[in-house]
Amino acid sequence: MTKLLILNGPNLNLLGTRQPEVYGSETLAMVEETCTRHATEKGADLRCFQSNHEGELIDQIHAAKGLHDGIILNAGAYTHTSVALMDAIFSVELPAVEVHLSNIHAREEFRHTSYISRAVIGQICGFGSLGYILAIDALVAHLGAE
Ligand code: DQA
Repeated sequence: MTKLLILNGPNLNLLGTRQPEVYGSETLAMVEETCTRHATEKGADLRCFQSNHEGELIDQIHAAKGLHDGIILNAGAYTHTSVALMDAIFSVELPAVEVHLSNIHAREEFRHTSYISRAVIGQICGFGSLGYILAIDALVAHLGAE
């Protein structure tokens, strides 16, 4: 069975109350539940993890090697700053998809740069929580074609 990991970074635990006009009104628990249901329908097993700490996210990426077949990552603001997270994805050589709820390219200049993008198959942004569902489909299709 295909095993996927969704990692959410800083401040995404506040989904639902954090700038709902930008990030939507669904809580992270709701998003994770919808994703888990969708993954099951796709015949995949899904684990979800959120942390506000860069090192914990890196540890989860390292631990994914051997346990998971692919990673979906919304690194939050670390997207725009973290060479360490980019290196972690390169290091484990697992296919990964980058997700952002908002369209980072239509926002402030500093959000246009993503270190994560260099290490992933592709980026999905601007579709709200639907982005995670699209990422599951993309990873399942990618892994099936490997
Ligand atoms: C985000 C976009 C980032 O710029 C921001 O720092 C976040 C959320 C998104 O999902 O749209 O925390 O990754």
